[in-house]
Amino acid sequence: KLRAGVPRLAPLRGIREAGEERTMKSVLFSRFFILLPWVLIVIIMLDVDTRRPAPPLTPRPYFSPYALGRGGARPPLRRGGPGRGSEKRNESRPQPQPQPQPPLPTIYAITPTYSRPVQKELTRLANTFRQVAQLHWILVEDAAARSELVSRFLARAGLPCTHLHVPTPRRYKRPGLPRATEQRNAGLAWLRQRHQHQRAQPGVLFFADDDNTYSLELFQEMRTTRKVSVWPVGLVGGRRYERPLVENGKVVGWYTGWRADRPFAIDMAGFAVSLQVILSNPKAVFKRRGSQPGMQESDFLKQITTVEELEPKANNCTKVLVWHTRTEKVNLANEPKYHLDTVKIEV
Ligand SMILES: *[C@@H]1O[C@H](CO)[C@@H](O)[C@H](O)[C@H]1NC(C)=O
Ligand SMILES: *[C@@H]1O[C@H](CO)[C@@H](O)[C@H](O)[C@H]1NC(C)=O
Repeated sequence: KLRAGVPRLAPLRGIREAGEERTMKSVLFSRFFILLPWVLIVIIMLDVDTRRPAPPLTPRPYFSPYALGRGGARPPLRRGGPGRGSEKRNESRPQPQPQPQPPLPTIYAITPTYSRPVQKELTRLANTFRQVAQLHWILVEDAAARSELVSRFLARAGLPCTHLHVPTPRRYKRPGLPRATEQRNAGLAWLRQRHQHQRAQPGVLFFADDDNTYSLELFQEMRTTRKVSVWPVGLVGGRRYERPLVENGKVVGWYTGWRADRPFAIDMAGFAVSLQVILSNPKAVFKRRGSQPGMQESDFLKQITTVEELEPKANNCTKVLVWHTRTEKVNLANEPKYHLDTVKIEV
């Protein structure tokens, strides 16, 4: 509007007025150009500030099975794409170096197994173990040689594993006698031999029978075992669960339906032992001689620890993270005596 009026008014008011107007204009323009860079700088700084990257997540040292399920554990979405802004940010803010982490203790799972129609329930165990970081599976067959079935199975399992075998002497293959003694001891012997020269590596050992069901949380719990840790076991001893009784963070007794007078009234699935303890007690094994039925766990644990020393896991032994889910004996009543099918199939 003002501009449109200028040419019309200029001839009437004279040259002086027009000159004043020009100087005012040029003063305005120069101020504008002086301010412009500052305004731009302020805008850029504000922009950079709002695009500041979120603080880096501290890496989780142990595997958390539920981290992905919880929204809170996901890295926050970044504002703005990877454009000019992120290049600037990279120059001005170098990424913090990740802290050196102590090595994750290896979990060694010793699993005795024997040939039977349902032996490939090992599949269930492999599927669980495959989701656990830094786990080494020690599978020990009750056999005079490694079977083809188990060898093939392990080759395809995609797990760090060791395949051992030792036959149970015929005289011990009677009902009422403890099972898998020789196999568990073979696993212990392998561990001791493997680590006799390199004792520094942290590790935890537990006995993973092939018919149990394991929550992934259990592995997080046992991984921090310093000497011997314990936790409840579900569906065992004729009860819904058995558990160590804990007071002030210490084990003081046992909730069990069967022979509560055992020194360690606990199932094979209810404890883990640190590798250090296994190595510093080289003679601790599962005993045949003098061992009564159901005393395997007590006889073993007696050799390496005391009840006072036990470390309760699973929220002071109030959470069931492993279940003694036994596989039902399979019905093969209609299985033909001689092979009838046109192909031979491994089951
Ligand atoms: C950030 O800069 C470093 C080197 O200074 C480079 O290795 C890295 O790839 C850059 N990151 C991005 C996202 O540009
Ligand atoms: C277990 O109990 C002790 C003593 O009451 C307590 O200090 C500790 O925080 C408890 N642990 C857990 C995981 O709840």
